[in-house]
Amino acid sequence: MYSGGMFSMANNSSQSRARWNRELGGKVAVVTGASRGIGEAIAVALAAEGCRLVLAARSTERLQEIAEGMRLRHSSEVLVVPTDIGDEGQSRALVSAAADHFGTVDILVNNAGMGIFGAMDELHLDDLRHVFAVNFFGPMAALQAAVPIMRGQGGGTIVNVSSIVGRLPQPLGGGYTATKFALHGASGAARAELKRDNIDVVLVCPGLTDTEFSQHSRISVPGAEHRQGERHSLGRGVDPERVGRRTVTAIKKGEREVFITLFDRALVWFAAHFPALLQWVLVYVTRYRRRRFEEGGS
Ligand SMILES: NC(=O)c1ccc[n+]([C@@H]2O[C@H](COP(=O)([O-])OP(=O)(O)OC[C@H]3O[C@@H](n4cnc5c(N)ncnc54)[C@H](OP(=O)(O)O)[C@@H]3O)[C@@H](O)[C@H]2O)c1
Repeated sequence: MYSGGMFSMANNSSQSRARWNRELGGKVAVVTGASRGIGEAIAVALAAEGCRLVLAARSTERLQEIAEGMRLRHSSEVLVVPTDIGDEGQSRALVSAAADHFGTVDILVNNAGMGIFGAMDELHLDDLRHVFAVNFFGPMAALQAAVPIMRGQGGGTIVNVSSIVGRLPQPLGGGYTATKFALHGASGAARAELKRDNIDVVLVCPGLTDTEFSQHSRISVPGAEHRQGERHSLGRGVDPERVGRRTVTAIKKGEREVFITLFDRALVWFAAHFPALLQWVLVYVTRYRRRRFEEGGS
């Protein structure tokens, strides 16, 4: 049974300040896509705060290694649950497994995700459905499984890891962009709906981050059918650890939408305020990215 505290606060300003200083120690956090990259960094940052962790992804061995590191470094209690988030049944089962093991779920981090690259008029729709299953329907299934538990215990936090492309169309990445726009829309609605239950819905929107993301993205263009697992350089991004630390802060503060760098925030602001100019820039970005695709990059 939930022991109160962090999530049971009402919504006046002094209590909001109290939330900011709140320790996460002992809270149960489920993190999807915890086997590498941003998810691993978020999970490690939560372990450092004293959370009990439930790690999910498909790479079981890697999850076990990460869990072992947390036990050694932070004496963390960690449960590994091999999960394919693209399967809604497995997403729901993950949350149930966490609740069965620890008796509660305080924090759900929907981080697992993948990219898909290709022009909108050429994308294989089966590829697009697959990416929607992983990036949108899986997280929604986990959210639906977690909310009754959090509601029953007086509150919780759901973190949806989106991207700046949830606010900014990405030419030749329109399929991926669409999954993140969907996540933004759903998160905004859920945040309003769940306010009365003391359940925060936090959107984390990284820009370019130094992970294996592009290597695991699906390339869905004619002549390069189902290309995946290639080494594509998107350039150098921020360290995933920075995203992990920022996410922990956002959970403590109950923030609405989080950008990692000033540049990311500026880009999103520009897109919102200068849509015509943005469209013009995107035409040039499209030409550039097409050339990169043809050369085998992304
Ligand atoms: N890197 C960036 O520049 C960037 C920027 C903005 C937003 N993001 C977002 O950040 C999140 C994490 O991406 P990342 O950069 O850390 O990429 P990554 O290094 O490729 O890691 C992706 C994680 O998701 C897991 N995953 C992928 N498909 C899965 C599935 N079907 N079931 C369960 N787990 C699955 C992977 O684990 P397994 O392969 O072991 O299953 C892995 O742990 C994604 O939602 C992505 O959209 C990334």
